[in-house]
Amino acid sequence: MPSQKNHRLLIYHRDPELYEEAIRRRAPRLEIHSTEKTDEALFWIEEAEILLAWKLPDDLLKKARKLAWFASTGAGNEHLVNNPHLPETVIVTKTTIYGEMMAEYVFAYILYFIRRGAKHLEDQRRGVWDPVRPERLRGKVLAVLGLGSIGREIAKRGRQFGMKVIGLKRSPEPVEEVGEAFGPSDLEEMIPIADYLVNCLPYTPETYHFLGQKELALLKEGAVLFSIGRGKTIDQEALVRVLRSKKIRAVLDVFETEPLPRESKLWTLENVIITPHVSGINMPEEICEAFVDNYERWLRGGSLVGVVDRKKGY
Ligand SMILES: NC(=O)c1ccc[n+]([C@@H]2O[C@H](COP(=O)([O-])OP(=O)(O)OC[C@H]3O[C@@H](n4cnc5c(N)ncnc54)[C@H](OP(=O)(O)O)[C@@H]3O)[C@@H](O)[C@H]2O)c1
Repeated sequence: MPSQKNHRLLIYHRDPELYEEAIRRRAPRLEIHSTEKTDEALFWIEEAEILLAWKLPDDLLKKARKLAWFASTGAGNEHLVNNPHLPETVIVTKTTIYGEMMAEYVFAYILYFIRRGAKHLEDQRRGVWDPVRPERLRGKVLAVLGLGSIGREIAKRGRQFGMKVIGLKRSPEPVEEVGEAFGPSDLEEMIPIADYLVNCLPYTPETYHFLGQKELALLKEGAVLFSIGRGKTIDQEALVRVLRSKKIRAVLDVFETEPLPRESKLWTLENVIITPHVSGINMPEEICEAFVDNYERWLRGGSLVGVVDRKKGY
């Protein structure tokens, strides 16, 4: 169990002063060094017991000899799970604050669609008064792929809107927000009944192209696909084909290559909304609050929130 001494924390991140200030306020006993510069971090890394960072250059990681805990500011840590310079003894945690924000993203677009936002804006531009009935969410099927910290928040809000919420996870078991969850082998049964299919899976060898041509072709007419987990979990070429051939829509926040290359066909499709990986963007205050809560657990010798299972890959 870690002792009550002053632990050394290195913050290696953009906007380091925001993180440092937020943590110092709540954990004054932590000895904090913060920087976004690799050469400065090199100076501190050898003494750091805790690291708050997203991606860390290997040259730095190799020197982190006293590191006990890598607190990642991100939720998806595929770059860390197999990193040979990160010994198994180092605890890696993900930040689990993104669910609320990403649920807001998903429902921002769902509500915009059902309340005919684009039509009313266009009518307004042309001075047209055309009252049309909106669609309702009650009874619509919301299918969530991945029921972790993000999927569960989305599922919870779906239920509040009276939707029929179903979900899929790696190890199927009852989940409060959806009832009995599906497992990966049930995917083909889930897709055709979904009005809204929200993919918030992490990227692992098992989830690469989880949604390929066969699965995407099962989407029913009028369905909306959200991609907010990791781009590589969807076969993007297949997605373009399906978007061209079927009356479905997609709201895409993550892509196989980011930034999405200018020549991608996705930019040209009218049934697609593209956002630049912003559905769950870093919020330093929230990240630091979660970090300090976890640090207090660490001091008490309790189990940390968001420990990455490096064998599972997420
Ligand atoms: N777009 C953005 O701005 C943004 C922001 C934050 C995060 N993300 C992405 O969102 C991902 C999810 O985050 P999270 O915090 O919700 O992760 P999490 O808490 O680790 O949950 C992951 C979920 O995916 C399920 N899963 C994993 N592998 C699977 C498989 N092979 N088949 C079926 N289900 C599988 C897990 O199943 P079990 O429950 O059975 O383990 C779990 O329910 C992150 O990994 C990250 O890549 C994107």
